[in-house]
Amino acid sequence: MKYFIQTYGCQMNYSDSERLTTVLKKLGYEECDHYSKADLIILNTCSVKQNADNKVYGLGEPFEKLKAENPKLRIGITGCAIRKCTGVRGECKEDIFRKMPTVDFVFRIKDLMQVPDILQKLHHVEGGDEIKDLLHYFNINPTIANISQVFIPIMSGCNNFCAYCIVPYARGREESRDMSEILDEVEKMAKRGAIEINLVGQNVNTYKPNDASPDSNETPFTQLLRRIDAVKGIERIRFYTVHPKDMTDDVINLYGELKSMVPHLHLPVQSGSDSELKRMNRFYTVERFKDLVTKMRKKIPHISISTDIIVGFCGETEEEFMESYNLIKDEKIDLVYVSKYSERPGTLAQKEQKDDIPEEIKKERFEKITEIMKSVSFEYNQQFVGKTVQVLVEKVYKGYASGKIPEFKMCRFKSDDQNLIGKVVNVKVDKAMEWCLEGDASI
Ligand code: SAH
Ligand code: SF4
Ligand code: F3S
Repeated sequence: MKYFIQTYGCQMNYSDSERLTTVLKKLGYEECDHYSKADLIILNTCSVKQNADNKVYGLGEPFEKLKAENPKLRIGITGCAIRKCTGVRGECKEDIFRKMPTVDFVFRIKDLMQVPDILQKLHHVEGGDEIKDLLHYFNINPTIANISQVFIPIMSGCNNFCAYCIVPYARGREESRDMSEILDEVEKMAKRGAIEINLVGQNVNTYKPNDASPDSNETPFTQLLRRIDAVKGIERIRFYTVHPKDMTDDVINLYGELKSMVPHLHLPVQSGSDSELKRMNRFYTVERFKDLVTKMRKKIPHISISTDIIVGFCGETEEEFMESYNLIKDEKIDLVYVSKYSERPGTLAQKEQKDDIPEEIKKERFEKITEIMKSVSFEYNQQFVGKTVQVLVEKVYKGYASGKIPEFKMCRFKSDDQNLIGKVVNVKVDKAMEWCLEGDASI
């Protein structure tokens, strides 16, 4: 039996798919490289925007057609689109069954331990019994896709209820993993060759495990960073996401102190306007964001700062939008993930505010932010020309090897050597573009 998992959304979902993979392998399924060859297709969905939700409805070919070609094919859905229940068609009332007649089963990712039972019923497979008794799906060992760069969830859920956001409804309230469990996972990965650890959670600064040191005057997240930095072999630690209201000085102080804190911080601001931030329920001011950027730059002057911006949120005036635009320009934010506001059912904004910015204006604002980001990024990247950077190689394709430098910029160099994947290579940069650096590894 062959399986195919399609993952949408953020790093949390990618990391969840690695745990799902373990369960499927224990049940005897083998991975295949295209959904058309699979006996089991699982979609791990994202609901953060309307277009993300729409993706749930297909993979490019109708499921009816795939099922007609392969009567054994079973289709399951998990991820943030599944809210209410876990089970097979007929036994569980989830709207998705009504909307999608070809879906056989759905499960909340928290119920991953129930998947062996479901597939034993649907496909008569065997195994996976040890999974059923686990208390939390985080206890399932992930099947890591790329051992040199691993994603480790440290918490799930969110308590913030930003007005536009579906995540607290999709993922529930914050739950933190114990520090000992995370360290155990990091140590195992380091022994297998992990170089970069990516810590994942919706609000990493409010990480609150049961086993943080009670006598420390540092936050549990800082304690965790220190302990991961001490693990042999770990050279880079990244983390996503930081909420500007919760970022603490003790984390900032680690920059320049811990060897593996990369000179890059993703600090999502969402808007450069105080009035809009208030309507978004973000609980900080633009001044607070700027202060954090200033403090970070005091520690590491060349640090790369990336952010998220939503354009066209309810009632966004031209002046408010220009404040976002100017923030990117003035604070020199070199990477922006920009989204057009998309109303999500059940959120505070959907209930209490009006999605009143026309699509053309959202599009125009989206493009303006993209343009300014490109020019900031181009300028930022010039500093690397003539310098030697460390590239952690992710891919070797069509004569080029490429990967990220600590500052989160892609860098490529000429090579056909597949053995470089997962290794750190010194590259002398000779050209810097908006999205990528180019250089030579032979010097
Ligand atoms: N926890 C993170 C964000 C997670 S969602 C934080 O607090 O920053 C990832 C990004 O999707 C958000 O940062 C936001 O920019 C975007 N997003 C979330 N809801 C959205 C919506 N309804 N419409 C458009 N973009 C949205
Ligand atoms: Fe969504 Fe806000 Fe939570 Fe981020 S902090 S996941 S934007 S509710
Ligand atoms: Fe999407 Fe869920 Fe992540 S809604 S952004 S996959 S937490």
